[in-house]
Amino acid sequence: MSENITAPAPRPAWWRHGVIYQLYVRSFADANGDGIGDLNGIAARLDHIAGLGVDGVWLNPCYPSPNRDGGYDVADYTVIDERYGGMPAFEALRDAAHARGLKLLMDLVPNHCSAQHAWFRRAVAAGPGSDERARFIFRDGRGPGGSQPPNNWRSTFGGPAWTRLTAPDGEPEQWYLHSFDASQPDFNWANPQVADMFDEVLRTWFDRGVDGFRIDVAYAMVKHPDLPDLEDPAGDNPYLWNQPGVHEIFRRWRALAESYGEGRELALVGEVWLPPAEAADYIRPGELHQVFNFDLLQQSFDAREFRTSITDCVDALKHAEGVPAWTLNSHDVHRAVTRYGLTDPEPLSTADANALRTRARGAVDVQLGIKRAKAALLLMLALPGAAYLYQGEELGLPEVQDLPDDARQDPIWERSGRTEHGRDGSRVPLPWQADAPNFGFSLPARHEDDQSDVAAPWLPQPPWFADYSVDRQDADPDSVLAFYRRALGERRRLDPDAPLVWLEIQREDAIAFRRGQYVCATVFDGPPIDAPAEWGQAVISSGAPGGTTTTTWYRAAA
Ligand code: GLC
Ligand code: CA
Repeated sequence: MSENITAPAPRPAWWRHGVIYQLYVRSFADANGDGIGDLNGIAARLDHIAGLGVDGVWLNPCYPSPNRDGGYDVADYTVIDERYGGMPAFEALRDAAHARGLKLLMDLVPNHCSAQHAWFRRAVAAGPGSDERARFIFRDGRGPGGSQPPNNWRSTFGGPAWTRLTAPDGEPEQWYLHSFDASQPDFNWANPQVADMFDEVLRTWFDRGVDGFRIDVAYAMVKHPDLPDLEDPAGDNPYLWNQPGVHEIFRRWRALAESYGEGRELALVGEVWLPPAEAADYIRPGELHQVFNFDLLQQSFDAREFRTSITDCVDALKHAEGVPAWTLNSHDVHRAVTRYGLTDPEPLSTADANALRTRARGAVDVQLGIKRAKAALLLMLALPGAAYLYQGEELGLPEVQDLPDDARQDPIWERSGRTEHGRDGSRVPLPWQADAPNFGFSLPARHEDDQSDVAAPWLPQPPWFADYSVDRQDADPDSVLAFYRRALGERRRLDPDAPLVWLEIQREDAIAFRRGQYVCATVFDGPPIDAPAEWGQAVISSGAPGGTTTTTWYRAAA
């Protein structure tokens, strides 16, 4: 044996660079024809996901829930809702995913539960001062008869963050805190019973073979103990978001995940809507594996905005051990095609600063939006860290802006006094077959002439969804879907450990950086780029290589 043989460098853990496909369960595929997506539907369509070339999936909440906030109002954390197929469907999907080498992440909602959760029902029944109430944040009201909320905090969805209970005899009694909808009471994380309960939830699902969790509003669980009034109730709430004590929870969960051994490669990813520098605190050694970077998706399609945002994030990683999870789409924001294609935004009156950037509506140039979204996607896939895709973006789907008002389900719609549409337009069931009932979303009916009885989808699909259907795009090498497959394939050749190094190309309207053997260049506006020979060959491009409104990857020979 030669002495010069060196072992290949170990491949870093999947979560350091993996691409995860987000599944909005109600809207992906419906196996039993009731108009609601389910886990058997996902299993039946798993080849579509595996065929994209992703590393895993994240399931939006599919636990029992009154569904007042798309399942983020969890009534039982330990089982799967029967509407989605219950535990047998979960086990089948888990096995099918693992058989294809796909990781399976669940959604963990630890800030609040549903008002229908057994703990909250008991708390209501047990009355003021009880141990049961101490698991939530109950307070007496202020003013005469306690008729005013305990403080002036606002719900993220609009309206006050407090709701008053009424005793069985009709007398008004205490108030409870809900950072979101009134149907979502916040837990009291100062109570050790809450932390213990969530340890059990994590163990339950890890024992059942899940590979990790996406953690909902991971920066909100710990509140300032005094619940002080805000000087400006419409502004940011520093007593609710990003309290230092929240990091202790993640150190505890990280240790719990590590206790399963390195071989499992369990991963925790936090939903943290904070600027990159503060978000990076959540991936310090011993905390989360990944934290979402939402800063990039809040930028306009503009070279300077993108470069600044990426630089802020990469610079913030210096003290981190985990990685950023890049994303341009989710069930909470308007789809990238629409955000980037918006030509004539309508004024939006909302206290939610994120919404102004991510849920503006108005006239859209769809072709421009698609071109920009493809360029942004290819740029994102070149960045160091993990990446998350949201179902339907691989079809180039725009936001459905014109849902009938009476079909809207997002609590934001009512809580904003019907001024903000909210998020339903990104949650419309996917089009699979142009000529099938429900565009093939409901599997029992697969052909136009099929008489199988299927219910209408839970949110109506617009007629133009046919143009975006999977079957049409499958047959077209120039489709957005074909582009996603090529892009994800090329990403597999990128060295996950290669650092990002900016290239100074003397352009205001274009950016370029190196990652190992690759150069990624994006022309936002202005003339095509003249790629220097040392960048190598153009290997993939979102449009004409080097062209306007296009991202191109170049690769130098080894
Ligand atoms: C997160 C979820 C969102 C939900 C909210 C409250 O932001 O992504 O969909 O409404 O938390 O749970
Ligand atoms: Ca169904």
